[in-house]
Amino acid sequence: MPTRRKSTELRSAKWFAPDDLRSSGHRSRTMQMGYAPEEWTGKPVIAILNTWSDANPCHAHFKHRVDDVKRGIFQAGGFPLELPALSLSESYVKPTTMLYRNMLAIEAEELLRSHPVDGAVLMGGCDKTTPGLVMGALSMGLPMIYLPAGPMLRGNYRGQYLGSGSDSWKFWDERRAGTISEKEWVEVEAGIARSYGHCMTMGTASTMTAIAEALGLTLPGASSIPAADSNHIRMSSAVGRRIVEMVWEDLVPSKIVTAAGVGNAVTVAMATGCSTNAVVHLIAMARRAGVDLTLDDLDRAGRTTPVLANIRPTGKAYLMEDFYYAGGLRALMAKLSSKLDLSALTVSGVTLGETLEGAKCYNEDVIRSLDNPVYHEGSLAVLKGNLAPTGAVIKPAACDPRFHKHQGPALVFDSYPEMKAAVDDENLDITPDHVMVLRGAGPQGGPGMPEWGMLPMPKALLKKGHRDMLRLSDARMSGTSYGACILHVSPESHVGGPLALLRNGDIVRLDLEARRIDIVVDEDELQRRREAWVKPEEKFGRGYGWMFARHVAQADTGCDFDFLETGFGPTPGEPDI
Ligand code: FES
Ligand code: MG
Repeated sequence: MPTRRKSTELRSAKWFAPDDLRSSGHRSRTMQMGYAPEEWTGKPVIAILNTWSDANPCHAHFKHRVDDVKRGIFQAGGFPLELPALSLSESYVKPTTMLYRNMLAIEAEELLRSHPVDGAVLMGGCDKTTPGLVMGALSMGLPMIYLPAGPMLRGNYRGQYLGSGSDSWKFWDERRAGTISEKEWVEVEAGIARSYGHCMTMGTASTMTAIAEALGLTLPGASSIPAADSNHIRMSSAVGRRIVEMVWEDLVPSKIVTAAGVGNAVTVAMATGCSTNAVVHLIAMARRAGVDLTLDDLDRAGRTTPVLANIRPTGKAYLMEDFYYAGGLRALMAKLSSKLDLSALTVSGVTLGETLEGAKCYNEDVIRSLDNPVYHEGSLAVLKGNLAPTGAVIKPAACDPRFHKHQGPALVFDSYPEMKAAVDDENLDITPDHVMVLRGAGPQGGPGMPEWGMLPMPKALLKKGHRDMLRLSDARMSGTSYGACILHVSPESHVGGPLALLRNGDIVRLDLEARRIDIVVDEDELQRRREAWVKPEEKFGRGYGWMFARHVAQADTGCDFDFLETGFGPTPGEPDI
């Protein structure tokens, strides 16, 4: 049995217990909300960081689901305080939610620091909400549980299942190629997102919630439950009950997010066929926990972990709803158990191995075995070379294998509008061997590294029947994207990385097996170009964007702000007034 703290040791007692004027104010103002002192005195106060907003369809159910969390907290003898946090809606936020992931991380940390709370429930799911909430809560260090929003139901169009994102890109290319009508397209729009919950492909949302579970930060199996399933409601009240116990047990995240937990998260990410965005967020979260995860570690895991989840876009057939019915993440982790550290602790207070006991797979085609994988290696590969000295990322299983070894002339764009005009030009002078390049879209240059990396296929090639080509950028791409896209090229062009030196017609060479990405231009010429290079102007002259561009790290180290990193300097202790 874990040792239990006394109620006088609760952090919230610093606000509520002293017999002084300031504490009297806290008590009086809690009574102002209609609560009697016996409802909170001596009880764990639980912050619920709720990323609900009218502008976030993925979290629409959080408005009411939070009541189920509160029910569980009350049942277990705790006192809930719901604290709204930045919603980061992937559907609406421009230019990219990635510009605000660190803002949410700051908000999560400071909401917890400044309020009278002993533990936290983090309600997120839409892409950047998971890393943002987890990064901030890790830095604050109070006991916490992650409550994943759950995937939405499968999309439906004329009897076919539609997958978020992936099928939008696919049908949009068909519309551009003239093979489906505007009316059919409208039916796709209406059918592709038909319930609340996050994207139900293995995009960034499903990847990051699976990672949160593999880190030990959710209740067992929580990340796979569809948002609209009543099991999700019961899981939410169970989260409320469990967080109260975690406070009494003082089960802080530093006991959970260790090197072993991070290793498990990396392995699970690879086996799910994860989004390329996982790289940036895994590194950032691990570093907040004091674990120095690198791109090389991720590449090693990628080489030795097969993809087991047959979920689009890496898998060909299924969606998250099928994954849940097949046994969900627990079934996948049970199949991977020889590659996991089962001794890692979880929020349940028991080891990962214990949480996997009895896990079964009910559909061997949805969740494959190690000897019958979807793809023999992991989801991602890390490339280095004279074009990306500190690294770039590719998703080999999601691109046409003929591009795994490829060279071709570069066609370079310095802005998204310039690139967009070219790809819509039916007479563009381009061959299927060309390498389309977009730069100026990295962490500082974007700023915020927008998801522009799956550059649209040029109409000129689509009309000739081509559906893939090699594309390269310092941007990210959506986790639901696919194709031969080399992303996160680091250092980015905005800071003078070699990508800035590339010119139209230069030969770009990819060798996936050797993990190389190079420009075939000699060093003297590159040096001349380096000397002639002029740094582009900053896009923001003031405000948050200005601060972002000054403090954001490069993609290979996770895009955190330098001053938020664990080693930057000490944080003061608890507020004493
Ligand atoms: Fe929210 Fe995809 S738009 S997860
Ligand atoms: Mg996304």
